[in-house]
Amino acid sequence: MPQSFAPINPAHDKVFAYPPVSRLIGAMPLVAPSILAADFGHLADEITGAESAGVRFYHLDIMDGHFVPNISFGPGVVKTINGLTDRFLDCHLMLTEPEKYFEPFAKAGADNITFHLEVHPDPTAHARRLHDMKIQAGISINPDMPVERVLPFLEHFEYLLLMSVFPGFGGQAFMPNVIPKVEIARKFIDQHGLKTKIQIDGGVDSSNAAGLVSAGADILVMGTAFFKSQDRAGLVRSIQK
Ligand code: DX5
Ligand code: ZN
Repeated sequence: MPQSFAPINPAHDKVFAYPPVSRLIGAMPLVAPSILAADFGHLADEITGAESAGVRFYHLDIMDGHFVPNISFGPGVVKTINGLTDRFLDCHLMLTEPEKYFEPFAKAGADNITFHLEVHPDPTAHARRLHDMKIQAGISINPDMPVERVLPFLEHFEYLLLMSVFPGFGGQAFMPNVIPKVEIARKFIDQHGLKTKIQIDGGVDSSNAAGLVSAGADILVMGTAFFKSQDRAGLVRSIQK
């Protein structure tokens, strides 16, 4: 969605006030296709096809070759994607210094920016900066980070992105040790009356989706499983119903 840098929303001590998640993306659970697995030679067709399959939320993987051993794409490609869709653009920054790129990605059309607790163990000020830019904020942890480490910060974030692979590449095998983390995070969020949405990222497919949703996940990132599916609409329907 096009972003403008309007004045700061003062209501962000309860950050969820802006913008209302429900207005932007509707009911949960959601399938969030990871564009990394799309055919970049036919990006416009991939987006059009995904939208007719019912997609309302795209996951964009940004890699710096430093925090992760791979390089993907930058704000220019996000801007192109923003021109192809008015759906929600969720940018997952796998970067050592994500804050340097908050503004370029926000200007390119990001609706949410997620960064990693591994690079910012005290992430609150960065969440505030994202909200000051009038976009949402997400915090992510890798499979080897205990979920308890991120819980104290969740009140500042719209999204918790739990990695179910070590980030860097699409198409890796799902690590089931994420399931108890989902359960712990779900319980914490509900007990504290937070609105943080739980996203799972890495190796998610129709074989593990139901277990993730019943553990408490709100958004399932799917790269390979979505773009290799012969029935994308059926896949989205089976999870979003
Ligand atoms: C991994 C990325 C994931 C990845 C998901 O570094 O953060 O978002 O693209 O792809 P699949 O679903 O193929 O594991
Ligand atoms: Zn990702």
